[in-house]
Amino acid sequence: MSSLNVSTQLQKEISRIRDDLTVSAKTLQTITDHFVHELDKGLSKKGGNIPMIPVWVMDYPTGQETGEYLAIDLGGTNLRVVYVTLKGNHEFETQQTKYSLPEGIRTAEADELFEFIGLSLQTFVADNFPSGVSHPIPLGFTFSYPASQDIISEGILQRWTKGYDIHGVEGQDVVPMLQKVLHKMKVPVEVVALINDTTGTLVASTYTDRETRMGLIFGTGVNGAYYEKCGNIPKLEGKYADDVSPDTPMAINCEYGSFDNEHLVLPRTKYDIQIDEESPRPGQQSFEKMISGYYMGEVLRVIVADLVHQKLLFRDQNIKSLEEPYIMDSSFPSVFDLDTSPQLLDSRDKLKLLGVDSAYEDRQVLQQLAAYVGERAARLSVCGIAAICKKRNYKTAHCAADGSVYDKYPGFKERAAQALRDIFEWEHVEDSIVIVHAEDGSGVGAAVIAALTQKRLQKGQSVGTKAKMTRTE
Ligand code: BGC
Repeated sequence: MSSLNVSTQLQKEISRIRDDLTVSAKTLQTITDHFVHELDKGLSKKGGNIPMIPVWVMDYPTGQETGEYLAIDLGGTNLRVVYVTLKGNHEFETQQTKYSLPEGIRTAEADELFEFIGLSLQTFVADNFPSGVSHPIPLGFTFSYPASQDIISEGILQRWTKGYDIHGVEGQDVVPMLQKVLHKMKVPVEVVALINDTTGTLVASTYTDRETRMGLIFGTGVNGAYYEKCGNIPKLEGKYADDVSPDTPMAINCEYGSFDNEHLVLPRTKYDIQIDEESPRPGQQSFEKMISGYYMGEVLRVIVADLVHQKLLFRDQNIKSLEEPYIMDSSFPSVFDLDTSPQLLDSRDKLKLLGVDSAYEDRQVLQQLAAYVGERAARLSVCGIAAICKKRNYKTAHCAADGSVYDKYPGFKERAAQALRDIFEWEHVEDSIVIVHAEDGSGVGAAVIAALTQKRLQKGQSVGTKAKMTRTE
């Protein structure tokens, strides 16, 4: 940093921002300990900030599951429809099409969303099965938002996250909303399971790797899923059907993006507070708002805007676009952070997309700031992993991760691995808890979950609470 040729005032501000965004090993350890406590609280009868949703996936896949399934995944920019053939022997084949989400869908009405999904499925089935199907195709619906489930085939949306704000869905079960549209459009598809992307990731990766201990998403949003023992979930006591024993595994969708909504341990800066206050859901997803792909660019933008207001950066430039919330997605810090091009020309081109002409010195500052934002995100991100390992007493683990930040943000993997070392202070040379690349959770994972669900139902086993199971008999 000392090599930057900038004013003393700007130098001072950069140092302050660095100090605010730096997370020491000690702080990571404190956060992790509080995280463990919060995971426990989420499983308790009283509940806490972290929802800890039991998702009624009550078997580990063996890798021998077979069958043909449809899976859909409603992502940030498109709807992915996948036809999955599970071949057993840990093998599978997929065939997929992506349908671009219509402009403005994040804030549309519920009907528009479900009709779009219905139409996409109708097109997919017509294209891939021109002579029709003999029976409805079972579908695993990956819905990556906090949804409560008393049975695997329902999902009551607790609240939208990641900037979605579609009216008339919160508090509703999204499965009948979709099934109704499919029925109306005569699409021969039956929703058998509603799945969170993290649970899909957990199951898909366990299908191919028995050492998998959790499924994680570091993308537009952040979250993790793992298997708990039913006997360790006090909030479900008295609600299980008779086939469940204390040792039966239960996948838990933690929804830990809401960790520390009480603001007890996360080192929030004035920038985080501003982003939260200006978001559609202030006070929610506190952890996610500091680290996920949806917010990382925005964290950088508000920092830059602050320096611009102080007339310390981009002097005499037209920087109007930088006033616009969310104008920088995570590809901006991602390009700035580890830009190795001469004169930081890649960063210059990226800024041009916003209509900003930059001086080399400005770009050097931006690189520095992006590195602080990127490093903080990676370091904080692993607190969820460390907390699950501590809670379950895992000394070794493959933590299966997916998502745009994990995949594409430069340096994320290395920084995350270092943060795990900082938390655990291993004395051995090799890391024993490692983040590995996940299998396709919302395609293969959704299909395996659909297969596991059908198998349980065929055997007369439960896939929901006792009350729900008696009602559906
Ligand atoms: C959602 C989770 C999801 C995560 C990653 C969060 O905003 O609440 O359900 O797993 O994003 O996609």
